[in-house]
Amino acid sequence: MANFKFTKADNTRINDVDWSNLGFGVYFSDHMYVAEYKNESWNDGEIVPYGPLPMEPGMCTLHYGQSIFEGLKAFSSIRGGVNIFRPDMNAKRLNHSGSRVCIPPFDIKTLIEAMIELVKVDIDWVPQQRGTSLYIRPVVFGSSSFLGVHVSSDYTLVIMTSPVASYYPEGLNPLKIMVASEYVRAVRGGLGSAKTAANYAASLLAGKEAKEKGFSQVLWLDAVTRSFVDEVGAMNIMFVIDDELITPPLEQGTILAGVTRDSVLAIARGWGLNVSERPVEIDELFTANEKGTLNEVFGTGTAAVISPVGELSYKGRTIVINGGKIGSIAQKMYDTITGIQYGELEDTYGWNLHIDV
Ligand code: COI
Repeated sequence: MANFKFTKADNTRINDVDWSNLGFGVYFSDHMYVAEYKNESWNDGEIVPYGPLPMEPGMCTLHYGQSIFEGLKAFSSIRGGVNIFRPDMNAKRLNHSGSRVCIPPFDIKTLIEAMIELVKVDIDWVPQQRGTSLYIRPVVFGSSSFLGVHVSSDYTLVIMTSPVASYYPEGLNPLKIMVASEYVRAVRGGLGSAKTAANYAASLLAGKEAKEKGFSQVLWLDAVTRSFVDEVGAMNIMFVIDDELITPPLEQGTILAGVTRDSVLAIARGWGLNVSERPVEIDELFTANEKGTLNEVFGTGTAAVISPVGELSYKGRTIVINGGKIGSIAQKMYDTITGIQYGELEDTYGWNLHIDV
């Protein structure tokens, strides 16, 4: 285990936290891990008090967006200790994202060790209540200052943690989603499969307009034909039509390879469900709804976990799914995934990285 240099915070901010009303990403724990890339190599990194980083106005990432991030969670296990859910997947995806925007890879083992150490240092920040967790957010960005458009030579990696409850205030209550007809998020050959800041910037205006109309989020269509479903942006999307569980495939490179998406597919296949990763046309959903075969729609994501969709609206047409209630597959999937994460169910897939405390 790496022995990171550690500077303890003089004061804790833990007493400022409203534990019964955590929200999502509102509070930051006392410490963060920071590593620097200079002269073509990453240093060992250190754990320091959470706080501002030195930055020049000319820092290239502010101008050209060379940045990537991840999101994963640590859960208080009912068997004692803490479970970090599938950190290897997030670590690999961070480097995949980096490869798309020319950010040098970070050693996966060191990244995971840094997360473990950070969680241990701020173990009191891991919330105890069911439905809550310590969200772990690694972010990497070009930190050189220049104004020419080119790759940065220096980088900073920061891991911060934040005690969170559900991402959507709706919790497990079904969301209203607006299908984007005017804007697109990602195009083939673009950045869609990378967890990079630009994808989220691309989603903000549509998200704002959707909120103003009373929707929680936007469902993105493919940017070429505008007929196939991609993802929601903060989560992947799944449909149950008849007895088929369907989610859009990863091959086009326009959607994020979600860790929860992968987990849901594995569990569903384990249950013997008829699972397809295949293109889904928006029209197929509306037609299935007319036939009465669109049984469920739900999103999957680290922050969102399993988020049922109760309403889909596209070009002025609205469909209500499963009477606006959570479906049985979404509910069972939520119970199963969270059951594994909180140590209530056996982790037969070996997904939890357990930390004894
Ligand atoms: C996550 O699910 O962890 C995400 O990164 C989605 C969103 C909060 C940006």
